[in-house]
Amino acid sequence: MSLPEQKAQPKITVPYLDLKTQYLALKDEIHAELAKVMENTAFAGGSFVAAFEDDFAKFCGSQYAVGVGNGTDALWLSLLAIGVGPGDEVITVPNTFIATAEAISYCGATPVFVDIEETSYNMDPDLLEKAITKKTKAIIPVHIFGQAADLDPVLEIAKKHDIPVIEDACQAHGAEYKGKKAGTFGVTGCFSFYPGKNLGAYGEAGAVITESPEIAEKIKMLRDHGQSRKYYHDGIGWNARMDGFQGAVLKIKLKRLAEWNDLRRSHAAVFTKGLAGISGIITPREQAYAKHVYHIYAIRVKEREKFMSALNEKGVSCGIHYPVPIHLQKAYGFLNHGEGSFPVAERCAAEFVSLPMFPELTPAQTAHVVTAIREYFGGSPNK
Ligand SMILES: Cc1ncc(COP(=O)(O)O)c(C=O)c1O
Repeated sequence: MSLPEQKAQPKITVPYLDLKTQYLALKDEIHAELAKVMENTAFAGGSFVAAFEDDFAKFCGSQYAVGVGNGTDALWLSLLAIGVGPGDEVITVPNTFIATAEAISYCGATPVFVDIEETSYNMDPDLLEKAITKKTKAIIPVHIFGQAADLDPVLEIAKKHDIPVIEDACQAHGAEYKGKKAGTFGVTGCFSFYPGKNLGAYGEAGAVITESPEIAEKIKMLRDHGQSRKYYHDGIGWNARMDGFQGAVLKIKLKRLAEWNDLRRSHAAVFTKGLAGISGIITPREQAYAKHVYHIYAIRVKEREKFMSALNEKGVSCGIHYPVPIHLQKAYGFLNHGEGSFPVAERCAAEFVSLPMFPELTPAQTAHVVTAIREYFGGSPNK
């Protein structure tokens, strides 16, 4: 007697990131708007960038938004605008994308690191004051993975020492600290619109938000070769303009950002609930003061390579953000830090695994990620 034919189950695959599904949903609207940019030949800066700047400032609840070439420009021009230069020190964290430190280096200043909290993975305010010297000219907390750093104690220490705070909100579009948008607490808030970000362009783009008309003007000049008016250069600037296509795309996508962030939060809730009780995993902890927007949903596991390849075999792709903290990168070897300099950042960097995270994840996909991880840990809540 032959056995009834078994239907092959379709294999679920879960990419780490899928930008195409979102593009297809927005295709007609975006193509029409890009055609308008071309009709208007508004390619470099121009009205489409200005319209996005207005909308983004409103979204953040900030007075000014200035579009720039990318998030690194946003940080670098912010530092230049507040007068950071050679010989100065700028305090930040070692577990960030290298651009935070590069922006400091490009001013001729030196990055000084403080370790992170094990709970939030953000700057540990208890370690901040010790790192301040006479040379400290700015503090850059980074809202890593989409969760705001604990800003009140940072701002209090900064105020006591009269040091400006610049927020690296490059991963935190729409994130909140005590009910107010990340990026609105410092003298500037810096955003990246790299394509994979919660608000991602179709190319490179960034923005600085600020309450200060002087800083907004200064950044507008710096992004445009130091021009106060065409061909009159009051200072040495750079070409850090946002292009018109990016302004058009970002304006359309901004309308959906809040909804997309909510979807990210609901996927994160599925992961956190589904992975609860597995003792080999630490899931992200949303702090009481924060509204996390899960640009990255990073868990911590030991023997990360084995874990990631087991997930890969089940069709789940993961990422690592970031495998080497900045103080141990070759590029910053000249700072003479070594292993053990920032132990929390080092421990976390060795264990972080970023699970798939994008708004268009389906319930079947998030469930599959949870099942694959539970199977890896033997299906038992206690392994
Ligand atoms: C925390 C952080 N800072 C700065 C940047 C730099 O932004 P961009 O790549 O747009 O220059 C990024 C981008 O990945 C980032 O994640």
